[in-house]
Formats: sequence, C-alpha cells, structure tokens
Amino acid sequence: MGEGLRLQQFSAGYPRRQVIDKLDVPALPRGKITVLLGPNGCGKSTLLRAMAGLGKGTGELWLNGDELMSQPFTRRAQRVVYLPQTLPAGVHLHVLESVIVAQRASGGETTSEEDVMHLLRQLGIAHLAMHYLDQLSGGQKQLVGLAQSLIRRPELLLLDEPLSALDLNYQFHVMDLVRRETALRNIVTVVVVHDINIALRHADHALMLKEGKKVADGAPVDVITPQTLAEVYGVQGRIECCSQGMAQVMIDGLVAAPLL
Ligand SMILES: Nc1ncnc2c1ncn2[C@@H]1O[C@H](COP(=O)(O)OP(=O)(O)O)[C@@H](O)[C@H]1O
Ligand SMILES: [Mg+2]
Repeated sequence: MGEGLRLQQFSAGYPRRQVIDKLDVPALPRGKITVLLGPNGCGKSTLLRAMAGLGKGTGELWLNGDELMSQPFTRRAQRVVYLPQTLPAGVHLHVLESVIVAQRASGGETTSEEDVMHLLRQLGIAHLAMHYLDQLSGGQKQLVGLAQSLIRRPELLLLDEPLSALDLNYQFHVMDLVRRETALRNIVTVVVVHDINIALRHADHALMLKEGKKVADGAPVDVITPQTLAEVYGVQGRIECCSQGMAQVMIDGLVAAPLL
C-alpha cells in the first residue's frame, strides 16, 4: 500500500464530541518532516494522540503498508511515538536514566549508554545527564522529551509543539536535528508548530487544519499562502524572500478577530 502515512476517513475525539471529522490524507512522506498547522483548538493534539492510540480514533491509518488501527496497541506503541507538549511531572529520574528507560520500554534493541550520551550531546544537553528531570527548565525538558522519543527509533514520530519553550536559536537547531534524524532513519515525522516561518523553512510537507477538517496538504509554500492565512488564521499576510532566498511570511494585519 506504499510508503509513508495515509489517513482514510480518520476521525478522532471525545465521548461527547467528534473533533477530527473523516480526514483523508493521501500521503505524508517517509524520511521527511510534515508540519501540522492550524489555530488553537482545531484538533492537532487530538489527531496526534488518536494516531498514537492514546485517544479515541476510528478509520484507517496506513503506515508503510500496514494498517495500524487493526494492530494491537503494544505493536503500535513500538512503531509510533507521541511526544506531548509537556513531560509528565513528578518523575524522579535523572536525564540519562529517563532516556534509557524510554528506550527499554519501547522493546527495541538496547542502546548503549554511549549512544544515549551521543544523542544528548547532539541536542546540547549532555551536561544535564545527571540532573533530575524536575530540576530542569521547560525548554530543557522539551529537549529531554525529544531525546526520549528519538532513542526509541520510531517509524512514525509525532511531536506536539516541541519548540514551544525553546529560544529562537534552539528552535532552528532542533528542527535541523529532527530533519536530519528523520532523513537518516527514514521516519515519517509530524510536528505541530505555531511559527509559520519555522514551518516554511524547516518542513518538507505541510498539513493545515481548520475546525477538524483539512484545508490544505502539500509542499509548505503551496499550503502557506495569503489565502490560507486569511481563511485559517484570520491574518493578512504575504510571502517574501529572506536574504538567503527562503520564503518568509510577513503579516500586515488582521482580517478577523480570533475565534476563542
Ligand atoms: N479531554 C477532552 N475532552 C473533551 N474535549 C476536549 C478534550 N481535550 C480537548 N478537547 C477539545 O477538542 C478540541 C481540539 O483540541 P486540541 O486537539 O487540543 O486542539 P489543538 O491541539 O489544535 O490546539 C478543542 O475544542 C478542545 O476544547
Ligand atoms: Mg495542542
């Protein structure tokens, strides 16, 4: 059935509320980063959690030729990793232990301590290896969460706002690293980001939602346009080029008040 991730009539939500409504997405590519875009409350986290088997979902979810919804949860958990916006509080482990525990829990091949340290170095947090998780800043915890996710070697990596607590320099660094790992390990990676310019610069593919429905799906420059910015975010924007020739969004104003 082909490489990558395909959603067919995929719905997700809560007992009294369907949030994602029969979503069809033909192919999110393997070895590439897809950004999942859309305003607050449009269903991004609900969708990712349901794809990971952590929330209610119905429909078909094809990953590299296999239908995941019909697989047992434990099998899906080996192939799909979901990183929530914030790590659970009250875990009394230090950073190195927490990454090793995450890796063992995934049931995959055991990774050496040196490999874990290598990953921590790549993420710029090797100096925190012996620090306890509850002593870290929000941004440092996000980087540890990323290490816990990457060490599990998923086929499908779902990152829910992994940049939200990171400074600008780290946002670039982390997106570069995730993109490299995604290509190297041939992962299907889906990342929720709010910064449209990060999406344009670092993503290979984009999927934009509004009120649980797909608005656009394709190359970031085809998805992030003055029309979709107005329709989905209610802003008046235009696409310009930065000094390095990369597309960048300039916001000139609002066309609508936010729908809260
Ligand atoms: N546990 C829940 N029970 C009922 N409704 C929820 C729950 N969590 C989120 N929602 C609702 O589902 C919708 C989508 O939420 P969410 O997926 O978190 O949006 P996003 O991640 O795009 O900001 C929102 O209207 C939100 O209020
Ligand atoms: Mg969310």
